[in-house]
Amino acid sequence: MSVENRAYENDVPVTSFSTTVGDDPYEEVQLGFEKADVESSVGSSQIPKPYAGMPKEILLHYSRRRHFVWARNILTGAVILTILILFSMVIALIAVSPACQYYWQTSPIYQVYPKSFRDSDNDGTGDLKGIQGKLDYFENLGVTTIWLNPVYKSPQKDNGYDIEDYRDIDPLFGTLQDMEDLINEMHNRGMKIIMDFVPNHSSDQHQWFNASSNPSHPDHETFKDYYIWVNSTNGTSAGTPNNWQSVFSDVETSAWEWNENRQQFYYHAFYKEQPDLNLRNPAVQQELKDIFSYWVDLGVDGFRCDAVGFILEATHLRDNPVVDPTKPLSYENVYPDYTENQMGIHDIVADWKVLLKKGSSEPGVYRFMETEVYDDVDVVTRYYGTEIVQEADLAMNFLFIDLGSGSQWTGTSVESTVLSWMRNMPSGRWPNWVIGNHDNSRVVTRLGEQKAKLAAVLTLTLSGTPGIYYGEEIGMINNLNVSDSDFRNPERTPMQWSAEVNAGFCSNCTPWLDVSDTHETAGLNVEDLSNANDQTSMLNLYKYLIQLRSDVTFLRGTLCMLYATDQMIAFVREMPGTESKLVLINFDLNKQARINLRDLFPNLPVSGSFVFSSLTGQSGEQVMFDSVDAEPGEAKVVQFKVGGNANLFNKQSNMADRCFTAKKVCVNVLGLLEVC
Ligand code: GLC
Ligand code: MG
Repeated sequence: MSVENRAYENDVPVTSFSTTVGDDPYEEVQLGFEKADVESSVGSSQIPKPYAGMPKEILLHYSRRRHFVWARNILTGAVILTILILFSMVIALIAVSPACQYYWQTSPIYQVYPKSFRDSDNDGTGDLKGIQGKLDYFENLGVTTIWLNPVYKSPQKDNGYDIEDYRDIDPLFGTLQDMEDLINEMHNRGMKIIMDFVPNHSSDQHQWFNASSNPSHPDHETFKDYYIWVNSTNGTSAGTPNNWQSVFSDVETSAWEWNENRQQFYYHAFYKEQPDLNLRNPAVQQELKDIFSYWVDLGVDGFRCDAVGFILEATHLRDNPVVDPTKPLSYENVYPDYTENQMGIHDIVADWKVLLKKGSSEPGVYRFMETEVYDDVDVVTRYYGTEIVQEADLAMNFLFIDLGSGSQWTGTSVESTVLSWMRNMPSGRWPNWVIGNHDNSRVVTRLGEQKAKLAAVLTLTLSGTPGIYYGEEIGMINNLNVSDSDFRNPERTPMQWSAEVNAGFCSNCTPWLDVSDTHETAGLNVEDLSNANDQTSMLNLYKYLIQLRSDVTFLRGTLCMLYATDQMIAFVREMPGTESKLVLINFDLNKQARINLRDLFPNLPVSGSFVFSSLTGQSGEQVMFDSVDAEPGEAKVVQFKVGGNANLFNKQSNMADRCFTAKKVCVNVLGLLEVC
């Protein structure tokens, strides 16, 4: 029997082999290997053929044969080459992939007015635990980013915008521990929290002001220049330094308040209980940075910087120019040339950005900053900074609030509003749109319900981040039956959760402001609207649009403003590799519109498919572009396949100044996003 056969017959092939080769089989085989390539040296008859479970020695013997060596080298080369190719593909993919979007881009920013959101302890004022108890609501709505109006310790003269302690929570809202719990719970759910930051003024109850205003205070020397102190022009309380006016000039006109202790005036852009901090004092600037760092360390994700245009005043103290000298002085009757948007402010804001960038070094952490400035669009958008020196991530855009009442919302005015923001914003930056907040009449009150729906479609389908002021999503209106202690109270009344007593804001309490009857009389509450089997109820409209907006074309696509008449507006969101989305809004509440879009835009295909209407909800019907209808007060979204990239609107020469994108992105053939 041959060795080979024996090897397979026996279950102990090594033994068979060893008996054949010699007493010390290992030695023999080693020998054989030394001359391995020369098969004759260990005659092939002596070496068994390879078999499953062969010992290392036989394996090594065969593996040294020339054709195995070749095969091995080729294989090794192929593996290395494949690794190299894969590696370069990964590098290439990373290089062409756009950066991930931030939470303040992907989610609308939902503004919670803490006093009015939800009262967990029945003392009549909303609180942090109340907000925490409603986190499911945000998730259900599709919102992950929340901005809280001030919750710092405060005498509440201006509902928290008068801060007594920047490092503590007002007992009205809970404790510092409650705030930490809220931050942690939100982070556990992948949500982000933005705080209000108030750099322009503190409360007159702040310890800095106590020390600053009182020359016999032990810390007076340290704090004496923390505020803006100016001598009287005649040594008495009548010698107001100049004509500067308080923003709340309906309450107190002059922005100067006499202080008996110091025998000087101090400046307050807002209420006299809100003395302006002196940001020309480096110690004050440092204090503010320390406050940022304090909240960053506690995990706060970002800041909405309040009244930033006011943080510096001209030191020469000249009178502001008067608009109409025949009329009494008031905030509206002076040009704030020396009291607002002074150039040095940009250096300060840029400095804050540097600080917040440092606080964003951990993966997945980004400390966002937005600025609140009401002014002309070119002044406001300057707070984005420049390409070289970055300031805010978002300069808050109030143009839709400034647009006025419903009759002023026409296709033409809305289009020029959008164009003016997009053209003024520095290129490559991210837009944002708000239609309401705690300082302005609610959107349904300004525009009426139907136009408010059109405004919602607009802000949620334009490029950029939409803001949602609490209650906007259920169509809340101003409640005029509230105390007039603050002219803005009507838009700050408690959130309407249900048709129950106090709208579910609290169960057994007297809310700090009366709940609007509409929670009962008009069904304006979360519970009823969620149960309503109506795709176009305000709440369902919001939910649907928020979800629609998470489509990549809406999140990242180019915006092209196509067309506007007084009656209507049309714009498109487009991105190579995806279907384009056309948004058509008829602002006329009485007249149907029909247009031949193919006449206007020959690059359009013959038809598209209907996605959604603010009047009739979702549908998949075909829409012929040579005859597109929009019912009175209807907003519709239509999607269509682009017949080749050359047909994209942003490729049409006449659209050059009407198309905008922060970064051009495409979906490639593999279905992956890439910068293009
Ligand atoms: C901002 C706030 C407003 C506040 C003012 C003064 O404009 O939005 O509510 O009264 O600053 O802090
Ligand atoms: Mg100031």
